[in-house]
Amino acid sequence: MLNDNAWKHRRMPVPKRTIELIALIAISSTLFLFLHTRELHSRLRKMEVRLQPGEDEMLSANQLSSEGVQTDSSPSGIVHYPNRHRIFAIKYKETEVLDVEALNNTRRADRSVLFFNRVPKVGSQTFMELLRRLSMRNGFSFNRDRVQRVETIRLAPIEQLQLARMVSSYSEPSVYIKHVCFTNFTEFNLPQPIYINIVRDPVERVISWYYYVRAPWYYVERKQIFPDLPLPDPNWLKKDFESCVLKADRECRYLEGEIHEGIGDHRRQTLFFCGHSEKCTPFNTVGALERAKMAVEKHYAVVGVLEDVNTTLTVLENYIPRFFRGATDVYYDEVNAFTRINRNFFKPPVSEEVKDMVRGNFTREIEFYQFCKQRLYKQLRALKLTKTTYETNSL
Ligand SMILES: *[C@@H]1O[C@H](CO)[C@@H](O)[C@H](O)[C@H]1NC(C)=O
Ligand SMILES: *[C@@H]1O[C@H](CO)[C@@H](O)[C@H](O)[C@H]1NC(C)=O
Ligand SMILES: *[C@@H]1O[C@H](CO)[C@@H](O)[C@H](O)[C@H]1NC(C)=O
Ligand SMILES: *[C@@H]1O[C@H](CO)[C@@H](O)[C@H](O)[C@H]1NC(C)=O
Repeated sequence: MLNDNAWKHRRMPVPKRTIELIALIAISSTLFLFLHTRELHSRLRKMEVRLQPGEDEMLSANQLSSEGVQTDSSPSGIVHYPNRHRIFAIKYKETEVLDVEALNNTRRADRSVLFFNRVPKVGSQTFMELLRRLSMRNGFSFNRDRVQRVETIRLAPIEQLQLARMVSSYSEPSVYIKHVCFTNFTEFNLPQPIYINIVRDPVERVISWYYYVRAPWYYVERKQIFPDLPLPDPNWLKKDFESCVLKADRECRYLEGEIHEGIGDHRRQTLFFCGHSEKCTPFNTVGALERAKMAVEKHYAVVGVLEDVNTTLTVLENYIPRFFRGATDVYYDEVNAFTRINRNFFKPPVSEEVKDMVRGNFTREIEFYQFCKQRLYKQLRALKLTKTTYETNSL
């Protein structure tokens, strides 16, 4: 039958006009597809955030920038009640806030898979190394994404789904590490992982980033991986952060609401918690801040603070014991090996005056950092409360 038909077709010549018509349709649809692809491609590019996939610089645990941001929580974990007879509302609030179960999002995870969507320049390279060592000690598998030329941290919905599917396919227990915005697995009806992250004083972080991308080894390493990358302008390399801010250089002007794709995206630590929405992109806005806070409260098991490694480790050990059991020991036993990772020796000091100028424009970023810090101390205090119930009750 088929052969018969084919034979018939061959014998009957198709009229010339039909051939021309078909050719015309083919050409125009190719053109249409080409334009459409180009449009999609440029839209995709707009969504991309150029994250230089370099690694983080490590700060020692004691390198506190206490002048930067004051916390009203006591790092010692002791709650001071100046007056025995405080009004009921305040007392009620205190007990409510220090409910260890309410503060434990690990319990709300559906699978024993740790998702560390690490923020760059917060010492996360060191935490990654810590996790790698813990994976051998505590028996879980360790996964991270590979170094990319242009790292995309804001993903289109389809890519979010692919990422969530991939992470959900890992066997339990596992850890997955990637520079990426908060990805809501529940939105895709996929089991929720255990979210963790680390934050850092946002102004210290932006200074660290500034010198990090100028460090010679950063370029040498990248050039080795991607030989065709152009070399940077020497004048750009020589520019220091202080004069960059004082001269109001484009690179060091931090303007509210500004959508600054590319390297500038590093200014916003909140982006990594806010999510992939375009509401998360403008710099220093209330909207992005609120979304970021909500994600932390609802989903993150622990958001550690670089400036307080000890509290971070204690909270991680107690709230996510399956993965972080023995973390403090591993960290301090091998701390010399850890602190050598990615330390930037090319970072000159920056005066408080210049830092204050920058802080004036980082208000929401600072608020978010303080929010995470307070939550971490709350989690620490909640541990103390359960351990010394009698003492606390007698206050
Ligand atoms: C801070 O923002 C103001 C405008 O709101 C701008 O004039 C100033 O240049 C910014 N300063 C820095 C250091 O980004
Ligand atoms: C994540 O998605 C779930 C389900 O759609 C929703 O209830 C939750 O509020 C989302 N979380 C955030 C931080 O948007
Ligand atoms: C952190 O903990 C280590 C080990 O327990 C200790 O030696 C160090 O003094 C602590 N650092 C701070 C700043 O408390
Ligand atoms: C938090 O929940 C996890 C998982 O259920 C549990 O292993 C851990 O002990 C809990 N931590 C605290 C401090 O309640």
